[in-house]
Order: sequence, then structure tokens, then C-alpha cells
Amino acid sequence: MARSFDTGIAMDMYDTLDEVRTDIAARLSAAANDRRSAMHSPVVATADADARVMVLRAFDADSWLLRFHTDVRSPKVAVIEADPRIGVLAYDRQAKIQLRLRGTGRIERTGLVADAAWSQSNNFARRCYLGEGPGVAADHPTSGLPERFEGVEPTDDEVQVARENFAVLLVQVDQADWFSLAHTGHRRAVLTAGDGQWISP
Ligand SMILES: Cc1cc2nc3c(=O)[nH]c(=O)nc-3n(C[C@H](O)[C@H](O)[C@H](O)COP(=O)(O)O)c2cc1C
Repeated sequence: MARSFDTGIAMDMYDTLDEVRTDIAARLSAAANDRRSAMHSPVVATADADARVMVLRAFDADSWLLRFHTDVRSPKVAVIEADPRIGVLAYDRQAKIQLRLRGTGRIERTGLVADAAWSQSNNFARRCYLGEGPGVAADHPTSGLPERFEGVEPTDDEVQVARENFAVLLVQVDQADWFSLAHTGHRRAVLTAGDGQWISP
């Protein structure tokens, strides 16, 4: 059986909706756990018709919950808090599989999930939250970081103030639109937590 070089996921014919459900879970789990995975950085779309690349940090296969990290000052946070509809788009070019997920987002600044995500980060990752918030205008090209942290890992003490700028975006996926591109005939299915339907590609 052929396997994707990228994820190790079997690239087989998909004959049942259960196989599709398993494939979706395997791809999203690989995406969250392997930064070389094709779906590691999906496009996350918000209700204001904007979209951006974000790193998928976690996926729970039982609840279909996705976790992303973000800066609370980034414009998407206010957009999601006003209208939580989220789309997530990922494509595995080698496996020729597209996932279009629809769901509901929530921003958590505090609490167990946000605290655990922060404590699992290293100080280089935490440094991103030390500077200006995303979208602040500048009169020169800038990383937004204070100069002393350019290319330098902050200490635990120095990075502590960045915690208040950090939040998790949790996306509860309600629907997954799975598309497999194939010479022999494309396949497409739409799945929800308890249901699934083949559809014409
Ligand atoms: C490869 C890549 C990964 C990124 N990962 C994240 C991320 O995990 N979280 C995030 O908030 N922004 C991430 N960004 C930046 C976003 O794409 C975006 O520019 C930023 O969050 C501001 O978005 P907004 O203006 O829609 O709020 C990433 C960008 C790239 C190119």
C-alpha cells in the first residue's frame, strides 16, 4: 500500500465514509504533531472575509477540536469574538487531499488550556508576544520586537510580561469537506460529528 512520504498516511482508495473519517483524523493529528507535515500550517478564515496562515498546534480526534496560538492584539481576535464562524483550509499536495473545515472559534486568554500551551512553549516562541502587536504601523521595516531581543532568546523573567498578549484559538469543527484528487476519478465527502455524505466533487 502506498504511503505518503510526508505523513506516513496510507494513500489508498477510499471506499467508505469511515475510511474518510479516519483519514481526516490521521491528517490533522499528523499536522499538529509534525512540523514537516503538509497540513501543519493551514489557512484560517474568519467571518470578515479575511484569511491567514496559522500553525496547527493540537487536534483532538474525539471532539474534533483544533488549537492554534495567537496574539490577543491581532485583529482576528476581535473579529472572532464578534462572530465566531471559522473556516480552516489545508491541502496535502502529495496526497492530493484538500480539507475544508467549518467550525466555531473561541479565544481563551486564561485557563488551563492557555496556561498549558504557554508553559509548553519555549522562550523563543514566547518572544513573539514581547513586541508590538500584529498590524501596528511603523515608519521602517520591523519585527516589532524591542531591539535587545532581535535574534536573542529572552530569559524566563524577561518573557513573563508577554504572557498577557498570548491566547489560544480553539476551533470546534462542525463539518469537514474532504476532497481527494485522482486520475481515476475525484472523490468528495462531507462529514459531521455523527454523519457523512458522499457528494459529487
Ligand atoms: C508560516 C506562518 C505561520 C504563522 N503562524 C501563526 C500562528 O500560529 N498564529 C498567528 O496568530 N499567526 C501566525 N502567522 C501570522 C498570520 O498569518 C498573520 O499574519 C497574523 O496572525 C496577523 O493576522 P490578523 O491580522 O488576521 O490578525 C503565521 C504566518 C506564517 C507565514
